[in-house]
Amino acid sequence: MNIGIIGAGRIAVKMAHTLNKMSSATAYAIASRSLEKAEAFAKEHHVIKAYGSYEQMVSDPDVHLVYVATPHSHHFDQVKLALEHGKPVLCEKAFTLNATQAKALIEISHKKNVLLAEAIWPKYLPIRTMLDEVIDSGIIGEVTSVTANLGFYLLDKERVTNPLLAGGALLDLGVYAINFALMAIKSDIKNIESSATFLDTGVDAQNSAIVTFEDDKVALLHSTQLAYTDKRGMLFGSKGYLELVDVTNPQSIKVFDKNYQLVKELARPEQITGFEYQVQACIDAINAGEIECKAHPHSEILRVMNIMDEMRRQWGMHYPMECN
Ligand SMILES: NC(=O)c1ccc[n+]([C@@H]2O[C@H](COP(=O)([O-])OP(=O)(O)OC[C@H]3O[C@@H](n4cnc5c(N)ncnc54)[C@H](OP(=O)(O)O)[C@@H]3O)[C@@H](O)[C@H]2O)c1
Repeated sequence: MNIGIIGAGRIAVKMAHTLNKMSSATAYAIASRSLEKAEAFAKEHHVIKAYGSYEQMVSDPDVHLVYVATPHSHHFDQVKLALEHGKPVLCEKAFTLNATQAKALIEISHKKNVLLAEAIWPKYLPIRTMLDEVIDSGIIGEVTSVTANLGFYLLDKERVTNPLLAGGALLDLGVYAINFALMAIKSDIKNIESSATFLDTGVDAQNSAIVTFEDDKVALLHSTQLAYTDKRGMLFGSKGYLELVDVTNPQSIKVFDKNYQLVKELARPEQITGFEYQVQACIDAINAGEIECKAHPHSEILRVMNIMDEMRRQWGMHYPMECN
């Protein structure tokens, strides 16, 4: 299947590298606002075609799946452009600015009957199924609480600091902690208590949330763009607990008993970069005529966006594009 990438930036490089090693997908096209940049990217990263306009690329009948790899601020317009050209889309996280935008895109995907997926890669990894199996085995008993964090020093990355690019720790990093918690706790949310500190630009520098679910399970979540964190996701249960490092691409699952002894360790299977699983999930869904990926359906995209909307509402943080 031919993949076309929108945005010749950092994460596009990782995707091109992944596609070059996949047998079921081809790094077919790269689109940039600058043809020169697209051509240089295509040459360096072995992509067949280069486009100096996103619209030209989504008009190419040989593009079978569009990967949107631009800042969050631009996801809505670019996903819409691709869907309206009848192209299936895999869009980088955070999916959109807010749930309203996400809903609108999901409606277009239904209307056009084309696949729409979010590139939140841990949801598609084999270790996620392994995690489900460990939880279902009952080895740590009933899971009652979860903690997850993700942090890097990112003040040199405009994409994360600039409100006009929908920056902030939450949309960039917190989205992984939220997805981790929702993998383990499936019940509806009862309450969210959240707070944040802010950069001078107005986006969140650090944030924390306590999410309480209808079955009284609790998730404690933290993300920061000021510091490196241990990137851990922990599940606590009545018979023990388990640890995953890191929540973006877990290396292993470590299971501990009530005496804090390591009783089981499952390693991550060999991978290209880990991005191949989300691409393969899209290919499989397209081949099956589906418009969402089972591993991360539209309902889950909205569930996550709704949590992030509520957290930002509590902080009074709006993006300039939301204020019109
Ligand atoms: N899955 C992961 O592990 C992971 C890691 C990092 C980032 N991400 C996600 O990937 C996406 C892109 O991140 P990135 O680090 O690759 O971003 P980036 O390198 O800063 O930018 C990617 C592309 O977006 C376009 N762009 C950048 N700034 C723009 C602006 N001011 N106005 C309009 N377009 C602009 C450019 O496309 P042109 O080529 O057209 O100029 C640029 O090449 C984000 O959604 C981010 O959250 C995912």
